[in-house]
Amino acid sequence: MKKVLLFVLLACLSITSEAKTILSPDGNFKLSVEVVNGVPTYQLNYKNRPVIKRSNLGLDLKEQPDLLTGFAIAAEKESTFDESWNPVWGEVKTIRNHYNELLVTLSQASTSRELLVRFRLFDDGLGFRYEFPEQPNLKYFTLKEEKTEFAMAGDHKTFWIPGDYDTQEYNSVTSKLSEIRGKMKEASTPNVSQKIFSETGVQTPLMMKSPDGLYINIHEAALVDYSCMSLELNDRTLVFESVLTPDAVGDKGYLQTPCTSPWRTIVASDKAADILMSKLILNLNEPTKFEDTSWIKPVKYIGVWWEMITGKSSWAYTDIENVQLDVTDFSKTKPNGKHAANTDHVKRYIDFAAKHGFDAVLVEGWNVGWEDWFGKTKDYVFDFVTPYPDFDVKGLQQYAAANNVKLMMHHETSSSIRNYERHMDEAYQFMVDNGYNSVKSGYVGDIIPRGEHHYGQWMVNHYLHAIKKAADYKIMVNAHEAIRPTGLARTYPNLIGNESARGTEYESFGGNNTDHTTILPFTRLMGGPMDYTPGIFETKVSAYNPANNSFVHSTLARQLALYVTMYSPLQMAADLPETYEKFMDAFQFIKDVAIDWDDTKVLEAEPGDYITYARKAKNSNNWFVGSTCDEDGRTSVVNFDFLDADKKYEAIIYSDAKDAHFETNPQAYEIRKMKVTNKSKLSQHCAPGGGYAISVMEIK
Ligand code: NOJ
Ligand code: CA
Repeated sequence: MKKVLLFVLLACLSITSEAKTILSPDGNFKLSVEVVNGVPTYQLNYKNRPVIKRSNLGLDLKEQPDLLTGFAIAAEKESTFDESWNPVWGEVKTIRNHYNELLVTLSQASTSRELLVRFRLFDDGLGFRYEFPEQPNLKYFTLKEEKTEFAMAGDHKTFWIPGDYDTQEYNSVTSKLSEIRGKMKEASTPNVSQKIFSETGVQTPLMMKSPDGLYINIHEAALVDYSCMSLELNDRTLVFESVLTPDAVGDKGYLQTPCTSPWRTIVASDKAADILMSKLILNLNEPTKFEDTSWIKPVKYIGVWWEMITGKSSWAYTDIENVQLDVTDFSKTKPNGKHAANTDHVKRYIDFAAKHGFDAVLVEGWNVGWEDWFGKTKDYVFDFVTPYPDFDVKGLQQYAAANNVKLMMHHETSSSIRNYERHMDEAYQFMVDNGYNSVKSGYVGDIIPRGEHHYGQWMVNHYLHAIKKAADYKIMVNAHEAIRPTGLARTYPNLIGNESARGTEYESFGGNNTDHTTILPFTRLMGGPMDYTPGIFETKVSAYNPANNSFVHSTLARQLALYVTMYSPLQMAADLPETYEKFMDAFQFIKDVAIDWDDTKVLEAEPGDYITYARKAKNSNNWFVGSTCDEDGRTSVVNFDFLDADKKYEAIIYSDAKDAHFETNPQAYEIRKMKVTNKSKLSQHCAPGGGYAISVMEIK
């Protein structure tokens, strides 16, 4: 009898395990992992303040017992890792990857299955993922839902966009967590592609600030062969729960052991600047698998693009409707007189690029199919190799090469994935044969096969397939409307850009919020660079198309600042050459600014209000400063103590004039020069919706 009692007692004890805790290397973060009544849980503190209150872990499976309850900790393993690595391109030259790890093996006695959770605690936050080892009782499984919780410790100020399985092209909403539900409807701007999936669902990267000044960011890292995660808030308890993107039949993912989930990431600090400087998401990705990366280079480009976005010219060559690629004979059709991607016009862009030192010229609308490409869910729209009759592929290849400029390919897939994959090898080979080394791809419209979503596992696999295949051809990729980045560019550095948020194009479709670019670095950019396409000097769209009343919610000076504040190894000067020719003094900054960096400092930052960065150009002693603010305007203070003490510099300051205003006087700017050293300080006025840019050039 005694023996039986002892056995029961021991069994009870093993159900509620003791909390296991680890600290970050600097001791500021404390993670505690505990199984409570068979449910695995975690909790995260920063400097003794709760970041994530005790939250459940686990997954619900289809047609199999769940991986949520009945667990006990079977093993725990602690380790430490510390190494530095050099990105192929980036904001800094060297990145330190330093963490304390806790690997917890959970056993579910009733099913004889094991689930592992690997936690990595860095000085800037936590990453954890599920690992599913190969085992007799878990081979193939279908996810009904991942049930990871993030229990927030207060009603934080939150910078969010609505949950949507197909687009992130929303303006951010700033509200308390408890106000998300009430603001969900107004968060949607008129846009056919927006489909909000719940009243409290939001997308990541999600940025929050606690009432006592703790900055918290939730996202994911290394999203591979798994569905993208959104978060759904229980606004009574302030607990977020993960929501995976479903496939066409409602399933959330198909897995085979051994496999892992992506990392769930929580970056936190009492300084906003630390969030922007975090390299946690990159560190949780695998080192690059490419042996040769010499063909991957940052790109500064212009493009035959804004003139179509504003409606001044067209992608299509004719005005005919019901075009079928394999039936319509374009050599016999009448051009509409507005087709921008014609040989002479592209030459004009090449001349401009060559004259001003740009690497590449993007040309959209060069290929047959644009008359009838959108909204009809057509399987076969583009073949990615057939030019319109007025676009001379070979002639332009020669012209670009003679001018030492690359042409940038454009593949609008119209989201017909089957069609793109069918043509992919031929399309990439066409690029190699015709001198193109980078492609802007796009995924506008509903996905074919029908019912799949842009952010589901099936599409996640497609985007990576396209990146890997491009690498076989030494091609760099900039994918629009694709899955938001999760640091995968560490592993596949030919992924030099993504859109995956509301870019400059929306300034022509009704406008972006004035504070948009003070939020994006804290949200979308956490996972990787954005092809935001700044540099619009003619901020009134009606100057190009009288029928379009949109305007850019920014001063001209702030357009310059974005080259520094919106980090990307791919930067476009998006306006038209004839406009830049009117503002050559301001354009000089775009010519001078670097696109690859040895060092980065965040000088001032508050999400939704302002951001000031200083960056040191790669292999150079020159620095570039950029500052942006919201609609209120402000005075920014720069301390130049980041400069070398033994060097002298000339600063060229491109700022808003006193009377500048993003809406009423956007083009009022001033340019002045001054000598600076590491003792200098600057107080700089920023207009409403404004900002400034500074080139800090070493005097040799
Ligand atoms: C949307 C992209 O974001 C834009 O840059 C592109 O011009 C159009 N799709 C057409 O592909
Ligand atoms: Ca887009």
